[in-house]
Amino acid sequence: MGSQQRVAAGTHILALPMPFQGHINPMLQFSKRLASKGLKVTLLNFTDKQWSKSAEHGSVNIELIFDDTLFSAVSGQEDDDIMSGYAYLKNLYAAVKRRLPEVVAKHGESGYPISCLVYDSLMPWALDIAKQLGLFGAVLFTQSCAVNQIYCEVYQGKLKVPVEKAHVELEGMPPLEISDLPTFLYDLENYPISLSLSTSQFFNIEEADWVFFNTFNSLEDEGLKWMGRQYSITPIGPTIPSTYMDKRVKDNKDYGLSLFKPDTESCMDWLDSRETCSVVYVSFGSLSTLKEKQIEEIACGLKRSNHYFLWVVREIEKEKIPSSFLDETSEKGLVVTWCPQLQVLAHKAVGCFMTHCGWNSTLEAMSLGVPMVAMPQWADQTTNAKFVTDVWRVGVRVKVGEEGIVAKEEIDLRIREAMEGETAIEIRKNCQKWEKLAKEAVDEGGNSEKNIEKFVAKLAT
Ligand code: UDX
Repeated sequence: MGSQQRVAAGTHILALPMPFQGHINPMLQFSKRLASKGLKVTLLNFTDKQWSKSAEHGSVNIELIFDDTLFSAVSGQEDDDIMSGYAYLKNLYAAVKRRLPEVVAKHGESGYPISCLVYDSLMPWALDIAKQLGLFGAVLFTQSCAVNQIYCEVYQGKLKVPVEKAHVELEGMPPLEISDLPTFLYDLENYPISLSLSTSQFFNIEEADWVFFNTFNSLEDEGLKWMGRQYSITPIGPTIPSTYMDKRVKDNKDYGLSLFKPDTESCMDWLDSRETCSVVYVSFGSLSTLKEKQIEEIACGLKRSNHYFLWVVREIEKEKIPSSFLDETSEKGLVVTWCPQLQVLAHKAVGCFMTHCGWNSTLEAMSLGVPMVAMPQWADQTTNAKFVTDVWRVGVRVKVGEEGIVAKEEIDLRIREAMEGETAIEIRKNCQKWEKLAKEAVDEGGNSEKNIEKFVAKLAT
């Protein structure tokens, strides 16, 4: 622990997520946990894309920082791979460096001085800014421990890239084929800066006052032990509100800060009229774009499976849906551009989740006991899919066919496996086990909960 500072009670924390949905969500939920323990928390949202600027965020104060340079970087490149944009990252750095001191000064003057910055691990430079402002620095890793171990092994030079071997053996993990590794490790051409961004998470990690991981002990025991031998780390996950994990609570809508407008009423009304475990929920997260051919195959696969489905196809992807599909399947399915995912996963009608295996979606499904059909697209999702199927055994994974497309027959087959028969029963049993363990981790006395309490206590001394 680097800082010599002491903090007074009435502590005010600033939370700085990477401004993407998959990073904002865990940071906001972590912030809410901290706020529930009496801390004042302000979360900085460096994006213009929040659908409702006045939405309710409960206990956490959200400050929307509208910065011209980021506006052009995010909104002007809607169809591009923004994570590979040097320009965006440079602008983000400049905007945070310029605006953070203003925010800290403003709160100091209004009598709520900030003492600690909790920042996303993909913004390691934020630690320097925090230190210059005299704040503690706590970093939040929002991806799985296994994925971070892989990036760390690359950072330490133990795993050479681009990986060309048939499979790699890493401590505490099953043998990983190339298709199980994060795509940044072998597809350097398509993601020129993503790998260095991922390994940069470790360059100043030892100077941070706290290092938090969005996972929990029983889920990633081996990985956390490995990581714990490299650095002093603290699991605090899963960052799922306990109101969702306790499905008896009906009014569990307090998730907050969506960058897209959810079609909440249609989704929930539609689900309410379906039988228990009868619906396939399909979503590929907030960033992935699928080829038109792939969307066609998904449409045909869903139709063939003959199960009910709720499919999220983001606005920018909508035109790829075959024109006759919606009419032909209006009895069977609902297609929306965004949904309240946690509410959907917590609904009893959902029987399985066909997912890209983003880390949040994976944790959310596991925490709510929903079986998965894993269809990873890029980044960390491939490794998450490997763990979903082979380590935690809470889902099945589709096989990728020619030209990188998953065929309709394969989609149909895997949906049936997850919904019907022996495999489905076994997976569901495993899901119940992980759901229980996830809840235990964040309930009173649970490991993650105790870690959060220790952090709060330390800040308040
Ligand atoms: C990205 C990467 O894809 C992911 O692999 C990485 O771990 C984090 O950054 P994203 O693609 O958006 O995230 O996926 P995911 O991590 O699953 O996060 C998506 C979030 O959006 C989830 O919290 C999910 O609940 C929410 N969501 C998704 C909705 O609220 N509604 C939807 O319709 C779809």
